[in-house]
Order: sequence, then structure tokens, then C-alpha cells
Amino acid sequence: MRRPLVAGNWKMNGSLESIRGLLDGIKRGIGRVKSAEVAVCPPYVYLPETQKRLTGSEIAWGGQDLSTEMSGAYTGEVAAPMLNDFCCKYVIVGHSERRGYHAESDELVAKKFAAARAAGLMPILCVGETLEEREAGTTNAVVARQLDAVIALQEADALADGVVAYEPVWAIGTGRTATPEQAQEVHAFIRARVAESNQDVAEGLRILYGGSMKPDNAKELIGKPDIDGGLIGGASLKAEDFLGICTAAD
Ligand code: 13P
Repeated sequence: MRRPLVAGNWKMNGSLESIRGLLDGIKRGIGRVKSAEVAVCPPYVYLPETQKRLTGSEIAWGGQDLSTEMSGAYTGEVAAPMLNDFCCKYVIVGHSERRGYHAESDELVAKKFAAARAAGLMPILCVGETLEEREAGTTNAVVARQLDAVIALQEADALADGVVAYEPVWAIGTGRTATPEQAQEVHAFIRARVAESNQDVAEGLRILYGGSMKPDNAKELIGKPDIDGGLIGGASLKAEDFLGICTAAD
């Protein structure tokens, strides 16, 4: 049995004050979540506050990105050991906003995945196609290419230490969710692709869906056999909405 995971990606939102409120709100309501694992990924600068408020709770936290390097002259970057200093469990790699706005290649993302793993962090590897790619019928090819880059660098065993998030770019922040059937189809494809290299890793791999997931569509999505939780953007910025998704994952 794969334990569902619901992770909030707060992106570049909030202030110290609003993030305190959000953390406390989630903490107050977490007792309602029975079996799903819950995590939040705030902007880097709010990690100390997150650690302070969530230590001792059931809720895990993580970074939204990391450097491929462990230290050195890389202005503006944050290294895996720095995330360890604040007891992060997870780190998102290859989010489509990083791939798109920062031109992160599949190879770079694979290196970030490896850096996270080397430091004992659990990478959440984001994959997903754009609308043009879906319309051109290349969804599976795109997702396979993104996944294969990690497998090529690290072998499929590496995915045993990580999580995959399928995030169709056209569904992110658009209010246009993939149907449960559309999502399930790609999730099953991802699992089968990993199974080609390692059956056991594929069976244990948690594959999250991300893209306009809300409390009212979460149950149907997470109810699909290969959807093991969610990576939540907009709806993770309101404690009640986020908790609604977490309980739907139970
Ligand atoms: P939304 O839930 O806002 O569509 O964002 C999804 C996402 O990008 C999570 O990483």
C-alpha cells in the first residue's frame, strides 16, 4: 500500500505574517487527516519559521528547488545541505515554472534530483506536458523523456527515494483540471515506464497529481488507482482548502 501524500507548493506567495497564519491553520486542523502524509513547501526564507512552527507536528516540509552543487560560488542558489539545516524532508525538482522560466533542462533536473538524494532529501520530481504537446499527441513522449533523464543518470532504483508529480502545464493555475481519466492514463504510463527498469520501485512509487486540484475534485482524482496524492499550488494557500484536499486523500 502506498501512503498518500499531499504537498503544498506555496510558490512565491505570502509574507511572514500570512505564512505564520497558514502554518498555524494547517497545524490546528491536521488532526482531521487520518492516513495521508502532509507536507508544505514555503519559499526558502520562510523555512526557519516553518521549522519552528511545525516541529513536533505530523506535518513535513521542504524546499521548492535546490542547486545541483553542494556549495560554492553560485550566487542566489540554495544547496541541499542548507535545506538539511532546516530539517527539510522534501524538495521539489523540475517544476514546470523552473523548466519554463529558467530554462532548466531534463539533464539539469536529473542532477538536482541526484543532489537531493545524495543529501538524504526526498526529491519530488515534476513532469508534465504543455497544451501544445498534448494537442500534438506527444504527452507520453514528453513525460518519458523527463523521467528517463533521471533514470539514465541514477538508475530506476533512485526513484525509490523520491516521488513523482505529474503536473500538466495547461492545468497549473488555470482552473482547468485534467479529468481523473486523463490523469490516471498518464500516471499509469509513468508507473509502467518505471516498471520497465524496476518493477518493485514502480509499485512503491508515489505519483502525485498537480494542476488546479481543489477540495471538490481531489477525491475523484486521488480515487484513481495510480494517483497517490497531490502537489497543490493555489489551494494550498488557504488552510481550509488544503486540509480539505488532505482529508480527501485519506
Ligand atoms: P495549482 O494547484 O495552483 O494549479 O498549481 C499546481 C502546481 O504547480 C503545484 O506545484
